[in-house]
Amino acid sequence: MTGSTTSVDWKRVRDDFPILRREIDGAPIVYLDSGNTSQKPNAVIEAMDTFQRTSYAPINRSAYRLAAEATDRYEQARANVARLINAPRADDVVFTKNATEAINLVASSWGGANLRRGDVVLLTHMEHHANIVPWHMLAQTKGIELRWVPLTADGQLDLADLDRLLDGASAFGFTAMSNVLGTLNPVAKLVAAAHDAGATTIVDACQYVPHNVTDVQAWGADFVAFSSHKMCGPSGIGALWGKTELLDAMPPYIGGGNMIADVRLDGFTCAPVPAKFEAGTPPITEAIGFGAAVEYLESIGMAEVRRHEMELTRYAIDTLNDRYGDDITIHGPDNVEVRGGVLSFAFRGIHPHDLSQVLDERNVCVRAGHHCAKPLMRILGVNATARASLYLYNDRSDVDALADALDGATDIFGF
Ligand SMILES: Cc1ncc(COP(=O)(O)O)c(C=O)c1O
Repeated sequence: MTGSTTSVDWKRVRDDFPILRREIDGAPIVYLDSGNTSQKPNAVIEAMDTFQRTSYAPINRSAYRLAAEATDRYEQARANVARLINAPRADDVVFTKNATEAINLVASSWGGANLRRGDVVLLTHMEHHANIVPWHMLAQTKGIELRWVPLTADGQLDLADLDRLLDGASAFGFTAMSNVLGTLNPVAKLVAAAHDAGATTIVDACQYVPHNVTDVQAWGADFVAFSSHKMCGPSGIGALWGKTELLDAMPPYIGGGNMIADVRLDGFTCAPVPAKFEAGTPPITEAIGFGAAVEYLESIGMAEVRRHEMELTRYAIDTLNDRYGDDITIHGPDNVEVRGGVLSFAFRGIHPHDLSQVLDERNVCVRAGHHCAKPLMRILGVNATARASLYLYNDRSDVDALADALDGATDIFGF
């Protein structure tokens, strides 16, 4: 496979990320941990800096022009996020702290209002803790029952029994892309099956939105959660998109300022969505950064990002397998049509933490651990994996650096 065939100048994209010019011990950083959190382009850094210097003010509360301008910018960021995921209405995008809070909001507010003892929530064996623990909490407090979709040997969802698992289920929560296996799940098909069974769907799109064209209407999903920090934006802000009628009917999650229409000594009434779910002073500057990140990604095009990552993922899998054969096990599907650029691997029996430390000596940043997916680790029969995750600013030189650094690990551990 040759270099990129698209019109995007990927070298210039890489240059947009100032941290990638940083050197440690005289050598550049090889950042392969974007599944954890992504680096930030100048456009985002500058948008936040300029906003703080020239336009920072409270939102929604004060009538003076500076505050009105800040409110407009905040709402523009919401509109940007809505556009990126093809949401029909910007007001159905609720800003949260992150994807974790978005899923907790659904479990607590929608689940709290709609689920009763014995009701079933279906999840999958590849979920991140963010889409497991909130449901475990409901199991503890309300006595709901959890069911699980198992995996095939190559790390895809085993859908052979899906209809039986969905039978009688009230909700189906699943990831659009696994943060460990890289697996891309057939979201629209899963949503349709869930709806046929009368179940509400919660899609964890944390690893999907940063890397793919996202269309919540084509998915038909009920709720979709994701985080800004994995998609070139700042940490401290994420989003929950939900269908209008569901969000409207849900009780508030956190109470306080901004989320009310009226407060009396004997009670309160809620503001409409999205304010109902945005109590207190929100992360204002972070919202501006989130909006700028969306514009940055749109300026490249999500289809181009996906194409670039497919090609790089193919190159990475082939390079590592060609070089290390049976000494490396890359988890998840081999076919890049059904996987993203997350490569969890085992290498020559070296503990992933040791491996990541040795790679770090060569400035190669990978994550080692359970990746907040302990049930999946148990199913894979491992305590931890090393994980290299790719993004739009990575290129073949990063993959080559990883492959070379693995050689170094081999030397140190005496193979
Ligand atoms: C699939 C998936 N879901 C949820 C999360 C939680 O995201 P956050 O920590 O931004 O809330 C992550 C983060 O790694 C993830 O990979």
